Amino acid sequence: MKRNTKEKHYTEILEHIQTFFQTPFSDPIMDGYFTHTISHFLDHVDNLKCVAPILGIKQEECPTCKLQSFDKENPSILSGIEQQGQFGTAQIQDFPEHISSVESVTETLADYCQGMTLWGHPNTQANVVPPPTVPSIVGFIAAAMYSPNIIWDEYSALFAKAEIQVVSMLSNLIGYDSQKSGGLFTFGGTGTNLYGCKLGIEKMLGGTGMTEGIRDDVKIVASESSHYSRYNIASWLGVGTKNLVTIPSTHKNKMSLTDLEDYLRKAFEEQEKVAVILPTLGTTDAFGIDDLAAIVQLRDRLAYEFSLEKPPHIHADAVIGWPWSVFNDYDFETNPLGYHARTLRSLQDSSMKIKSLHMADSIGIDFHKTGYTPYISSVFLLKNREDMTLLSREPEQMPYLYQFGYYHPGIYTLESSRSAAGTMAALANLLLLGKQGYRVLIGHLVEMAEMLREELEQHPYICILNDYNYGPVTLFRVYPDGVDAQKAYEQEMSDPNYRDELEENNAYNRHIFDKLHEQAMRGEGVLLSWTDAYRHADYPDGLPIAAIKSFIMSPWTDMNSSNTLARQVADARIQIKETEKST
Ligand SMILES: Cc1ncc(COP(=O)(O)O)c(C=O)c1O
Repeated sequence: MKRNTKEKHYTEILEHIQTFFQTPFSDPIMDGYFTHTISHFLDHVDNLKCVAPILGIKQEECPTCKLQSFDKENPSILSGIEQQGQFGTAQIQDFPEHISSVESVTETLADYCQGMTLWGHPNTQANVVPPPTVPSIVGFIAAAMYSPNIIWDEYSALFAKAEIQVVSMLSNLIGYDSQKSGGLFTFGGTGTNLYGCKLGIEKMLGGTGMTEGIRDDVKIVASESSHYSRYNIASWLGVGTKNLVTIPSTHKNKMSLTDLEDYLRKAFEEQEKVAVILPTLGTTDAFGIDDLAAIVQLRDRLAYEFSLEKPPHIHADAVIGWPWSVFNDYDFETNPLGYHARTLRSLQDSSMKIKSLHMADSIGIDFHKTGYTPYISSVFLLKNREDMTLLSREPEQMPYLYQFGYYHPGIYTLESSRSAAGTMAALANLLLLGKQGYRVLIGHLVEMAEMLREELEQHPYICILNDYNYGPVTLFRVYPDGVDAQKAYEQEMSDPNYRDELEENNAYNRHIFDKLHEQAMRGEGVLLSWTDAYRHADYPDGLPIAAIKSFIMSPWTDMNSSNTLARQVADARIQIKETEKST
């Protein structure tokens, strides 16, 4: 067949395509091209910065930058997704026909950063998402460049050792014996809970669930404030959500021990198979901390009393709260880091509860939350690594793997391919920050949250809802003139005849939140978030109580942002009042 001579021979094109890759040989020119590409990306993204906590949006009055103002009528600038449900032009993309260039794709990738929240911005208080440290990003780059797969040390070399080292460091931190403990990186906090539940179920079934499937009802017990991933896990593992047992939370957002005991007694009397208890140490919305020590003691006491052969496995969901362990050996008496009294009390209160982490049979730890790495960096840690054999497959099922080497986690992991990116990022931060660095970061978040609470407490129209949860998150409600905030909240929680007012106040708070959000988008205020149901009112079929949420994560947040927020709330109330007057 005659070749179309207009088209270059493939080897010529291949030579060009080779420049798209990192060279496998030592080549300073190509390395320079690589760093140039990264700096080209950085330059492009830098152009998206103004004072707003969102990339690509300028402050309303900024005379110099060429970015767009936030248009609340047309918020698609934030995602480029123009229509809800159908995804507009994003859904009619054809597969590209031709080769592009590194420069042009790099610029396009930078454009995709538009609309992203700057998690490190002093005015970002949106959620439990940290700005990643530079070495943790380098950890991701290392894994991206060399593509280690921690299925096997043959494919990951020292990256596999990093996983073992991080597991050892974390065991040392929380008080597991690192000679006996084990662990692995997995796909998010949800993944850590999934491993914890799967292991608990297999312990209960003596490993038969792996081959026979789950034939009996097995129970997973968690508090009402625990993360919704328990629903995914119960359904995906084949346990069924009907077998999820939800224990009420107290007003301090922790699992009610009396309700737990009542349930367990009844369950053991009826010979129910309770496979897993899932306490949360640092709940998603309120930073509630379940009393893990009391839960473990209760499990042990009842196991003895009922002569249980297979007591429930206790998996601690500490994906948010784990770094408070760095205060296990902080000298709260002399307070060498000089926290304010209020902060000190909060840190001590939380760390006293987190100190019991070593009592759990397994633990979930997220670095992409309070550990300051990029997504995803999650560790499933377990006290007794021998337990993992319950999840093992036969090596004959994987004839192409494990002919040599010493580390074969792929035999028991759910995942086949497992990136080392999260592992390297976690290693980077542990080495970079150590206990001292984490104490400073976590201490700062709590200090800023305490200052914010102190500021908000001065306003009689604001009620702080999670008053007993001493972490970086503050949930509050705002009330109109003539309403005593504290009394109104108490009535909302307890009085079924106050339902209408509760609904009205939910709507009022949503209105305030929308105003604050709009202001933040204009680069003029603090970016917060919203929860539709901080809790439900205490009476049967209690309505949801919505809340405005501040989650401080940035090392750049300072006192100014608390003052700004209090001022914004006051202004928003006045604006709403004036609009009501004029209509
Ligand atoms: C307490 C808790 N557990 C588990 C999860 C799930 O983590 P991920 O989103 O990383 O899967 C979250 C997420 O916010 C959480 O707050």
